[in-house]
Amino acid sequence: MIQNHQQNSKKTKIFSIVNQKGGVGKTTTAINIATAIASVKKKVLLIDLDPQGNASTGLGIENDVRVTTIYDVIIGQSTASNAILNTKIPNLKIITSTVDLSACEVELVGIENREYLLKNSLVEIIYDFDAIIIDCPPSLGLLTINALSSSDAILIPMQCEFFSLEGLSHLLNTVGLVKENLNPDLRVSGIILTMHDRRNKLTEQVENDVRSFLGDKVYENYVPRNVRLSEAPSYGLPGVIYDSKSSGSLAYIKLAREIIIRESI
Ligand SMILES: Nc1ncnc2c1ncn2[C@@H]1O[C@H](COP(=O)(O)OP(=O)(O)OP(=O)(O)O)[C@@H](O)[C@H]1O
Ligand SMILES: [Mg+2]
Repeated sequence: MIQNHQQNSKKTKIFSIVNQKGGVGKTTTAINIATAIASVKKKVLLIDLDPQGNASTGLGIENDVRVTTIYDVIIGQSTASNAILNTKIPNLKIITSTVDLSACEVELVGIENREYLLKNSLVEIIYDFDAIIIDCPPSLGLLTINALSSSDAILIPMQCEFFSLEGLSHLLNTVGLVKENLNPDLRVSGIILTMHDRRNKLTEQVENDVRSFLGDKVYENYVPRNVRLSEAPSYGLPGVIYDSKSSGSLAYIKLAREIIIRESI
């Protein structure tokens, strides 16, 4: 058993943070979980796969430094290793994105194996990291399909709102299709409840529904609504560094611990 755990923990785990709904906390989760995992001396690569470039901005990487980005990697103009930049956080590296990435969806139509371009480009660097975390855009287009084809598992940030469950079933259908057609090993690692508001009755009701439908697929630790988490990106810092004692940071640190254990990172 112990030997098994050690063997598992050696393999690089690739996670996509995905939800086609916008503004549910994907990028906030990607940045803070990546930082919290890196803080326990694991080597982490964050891939910003969103043309909005929020993960890059949130880690303080200015636009003019993003010379070689994930766009260049996907279209085969650069290797992944060439596109990796350091962040201010020890053990955390990033492949950035800019608005150029939005052209991919159109430029790649008709290209053979277009669903596997990201996966193929990561082969070269896979052994350099303990975990690779991909921050997806709010759509289920070709970029997200590339992320899902590359991943071992997905993490789904979800806000406890009325329409969230509908969105979730659409997402799980897409994951099922990717599993059938592109990546048979793809798993749902878990759902992460974000911007949780304990005083709101609807939050409680949706949380109960999600937990009773999906059982232990829902991570036990949830992220409360916390203004410090939303302030942090304007300082180019992850919330867990900007104010490590805030309720949001403490939640992300506990959540990261839960992910490390569940996924043997
Ligand atoms: N727990 C939280 N408490 C308060 N604000 C939060 C929290 N999580 C995220 N936010 C804020 O909510 C907004 C949306 O979050 P975020 O950018 O992480 O979502 P997203 O799913 O990545 O969005 P998009 O779909 O546009 O990529 C941001 O302004 C962010 O700072
Ligand atoms: Mg985002």
